Amino acid sequence: MNILFVASEIYPLIKTGGLADVAGSLPVALRKKGHDVRLLMPAYSGVLDKVAPIQNQINLGNPFNVGDLILLETQILENGTPIWLLQCQNLYERDGGPYLDTDGKDYKDNHLRFSALSWVAAVLSSYGSLMKWQPDILHINDWQAGLSVAYLKSWNMKHIPVVTTVHNLRYNGSFPISLYSDTGLSHDLLTHHGIEFYGQFSALKASLVYSDAITTVSPTYAKEILTTEYGDGLDGTLRAHQHKLHGILNGVDYDQWSPDIDPAIDTQYDLKTLDLKQKNKLALLQENHLDESLEQPVFGVVSRLTEQKGLDLVLEVLPTALAQGAKFILLGSGDKALESAFLALQQSYPQQVGVRIGYDEEYSHRLQAGIDALLIPSRFEPCGLTQLYALKYGTLPVVRKTGGLADTVFEDGPEANGFVFQNADTKSLNSAINRCIETFRDQKSWKHRQENAMQYDFSWEKTTSHWLALYSDLLGK
Ligand code: ADP
Ligand code: GLC
Repeated sequence: MNILFVASEIYPLIKTGGLADVAGSLPVALRKKGHDVRLLMPAYSGVLDKVAPIQNQINLGNPFNVGDLILLETQILENGTPIWLLQCQNLYERDGGPYLDTDGKDYKDNHLRFSALSWVAAVLSSYGSLMKWQPDILHINDWQAGLSVAYLKSWNMKHIPVVTTVHNLRYNGSFPISLYSDTGLSHDLLTHHGIEFYGQFSALKASLVYSDAITTVSPTYAKEILTTEYGDGLDGTLRAHQHKLHGILNGVDYDQWSPDIDPAIDTQYDLKTLDLKQKNKLALLQENHLDESLEQPVFGVVSRLTEQKGLDLVLEVLPTALAQGAKFILLGSGDKALESAFLALQQSYPQQVGVRIGYDEEYSHRLQAGIDALLIPSRFEPCGLTQLYALKYGTLPVVRKTGGLADTVFEDGPEANGFVFQNADTKSLNSAINRCIETFRDQKSWKHRQENAMQYDFSWEKTTSHWLALYSDLLGK
């Protein structure tokens, strides 16, 4: 099958979160199964340094009055995956990140930046002759690619089957109606059953309504988003389109995330040499200038700092754990108030708390290898990848029972691999952390959980069959 896979971030070219990991690894796994998956993403600043020399380029004109849209054909250097980069200096070559400026504010023209991406996705999928490659399936991810399917409809283009994957319903790509005319989409679509969303228009809603299939990144989140509590205002739309909604759990690229081959960590280890994990713990404590005793657990966090992740709860309960001798190490960035609060905590506990504000891929590996337990008290979590990485590193996740966390971390039974709590409140989190500390004191039972954790297999190889079944179904094969 030929699949055009469209995403606004793809590892290792650019990454702000889990979408990049998925977009960087699911297509590779599908290609290994013999399918021709090609990627489409904007040519943000710096991206051209990480791809092969441009093999072909085509000028698609200036439909948005922002300058010419130029499609560059190349491959990702690290793994050879074919990719089209959409170049438009006015839209994508900027100092900030893919969505936010250097002050952390949304770019004011995000509606245009991602309308252009979506329009090009539609053109590529309908006019295969343009780039001498005809996709059978258009697979779009999140709101940034969501309008693709609206262009197919509104511009009467040839409609190949379209799959939308929702990685996070909270980001719905909604904009004031006054900006709608910039998109070049027909006003016929701007109805309650179409793109209109509480007096605005929503790119994500467009993709939910008009795609042939909707997937989300875990079975539990697929159920949760049908409720008002988790539906972020789109639960009604999702219920109306429930017949085409599927929950397919994300996978892990174990070539990137395995402690036995990870070049970023202090000492490599596997199930049989699990004791060597201690060396990584010591190295991490030293790197953070913390007390070097190894008898108490080190808790950690690697995360975007947003309301979703529930880290305000961690701030409240940590002093109790620290009083018992535990340590805490965080890598994250985002919400300024949370950043300051964690830095203040570090000031209060200089021997026990290490905080690094920023984004650091290599350090995230050292952290996963060095800590004992990873805290993920998310208010909602479509899938979550950090708990999957933690498991492979024999680091036990402490998670709230929601979304993909509920599907992958288990506290009870012979397969137990972590600690799980129900409610997003300090009492529940505190009690889970206490259970974790208690288990840590019984090293035999801790090790048993670690061994279970490391043996779970969340590789893409296990889930590609679900994707291929869905694509085939849509193609009537
Ligand atoms: P989300 O996509 O909601 O942020 P996931 O758990 O799916 O959550 O994915 C987060 C990804 O981003 C993981 O690969 C994680 O290691 C990485 N990550 C998050 N914050 C940082 C950071 N500050 N530095 C490095 N990597 C980070
Ligand atoms: C989103 C979600 C996260 C998920 C990731 C990749 O950012 O917040 O739970 O793992 O996408 O699908």
